Amino acid sequence: MTAPVLEMRNVDKSFGPIDVLHEINLKVHAGEVLCLLGDNGAGKSTLIRTLSGVHKPTRGEMLMDGEAVNFSNPKQAQQMGIATVHQFGGTYPLMSVGRNFFVGAEPTKGWGPFKVFDRQKANAIAVDAVQKFGITRITDGDRLVGGLSGGERQSLAIARAVHFGARVLILDEPTAALGVKQAAHVLRIVNEAKRRGLAVIFITHQVMHAMAVGDHFAVLIRGAIAADFRKGDKSREEIADLMAGGESMADLEASIEGYMETHEGHPPPAH
Ligand SMILES: Nc1ncnc2c1ncn2[C@@H]1O[C@H](COP(=O)(O)OP(=O)(O)OP(=O)(O)O)[C@@H](O)[C@H]1O
Ligand SMILES: [Mg+2]
Repeated sequence: MTAPVLEMRNVDKSFGPIDVLHEINLKVHAGEVLCLLGDNGAGKSTLIRTLSGVHKPTRGEMLMDGEAVNFSNPKQAQQMGIATVHQFGGTYPLMSVGRNFFVGAEPTKGWGPFKVFDRQKANAIAVDAVQKFGITRITDGDRLVGGLSGGERQSLAIARAVHFGARVLILDEPTAALGVKQAAHVLRIVNEAKRRGLAVIFITHQVMHAMAVGDHFAVLIRGAIAADFRKGDKSREEIADLMAGGESMADLEASIEGYMETHEGHPPPAH
């Protein structure tokens, strides 16, 4: 079996006296989606920031293709093929689709002081790349990204990462703010990235979204991997229970029902 594209071995991360991650072991292979599940504050973002070169592990090691790696900064991780798409797609609303696609890697024509951004070429490449991903509603590279839907923006960011040769795609809650149809579209694109052989790390709170794309699941509770299993090993209810930190969903539902009965007609207070 080939080595995982990316692996963490016994990784701890502390900020001064605050221990956030403990003994993290995880791996992701090419053509596989690893879903990272966990409640608010569990350490998911800290984990992916460590994988993408923002933080250095306090202890333990990271490996790419079986070789130890140390990233001094996010740029280095990016150059090694680790692309991280943050919530809202990390795109620039006031830029055109073509511009946005090539931020930091613009195709130019001419030379020296006459070098200019080749808008038409950029637009043609960007539109072609997103269309190949099945995002058929983007046909004009001059369109502003701000006018795209949340799902289209996420999709654009993923298509961009794949176009520039990412091998690992890290998605921090890409479907969190989306409606059902848009979330389904993003999930299809995640499956397409996987089909193309990328290793995907998908962070979500939504069990159904995880189950739609995940091959492998890791549940993070208070900075430690509390469960690690493959598709088909656990039911949706079992996964939901794990994510609730061991609190059974059935118990949670019963307590909500109890609340509703005693407050008949009065909705729970909004936060
Ligand atoms: N730079 C830091 N310094 C100190 N503590 C930090 C730092 N970054 C994160 N933490 C702490 O680590 C814990 C985990 O935070 P993190 O953002 O990784 O959680 P998360 O799982 O991504 O949560 P959410 O689902 O809300 O996004 C929190 O208690 C947070 O306060
Ligand atoms: Mg987070």
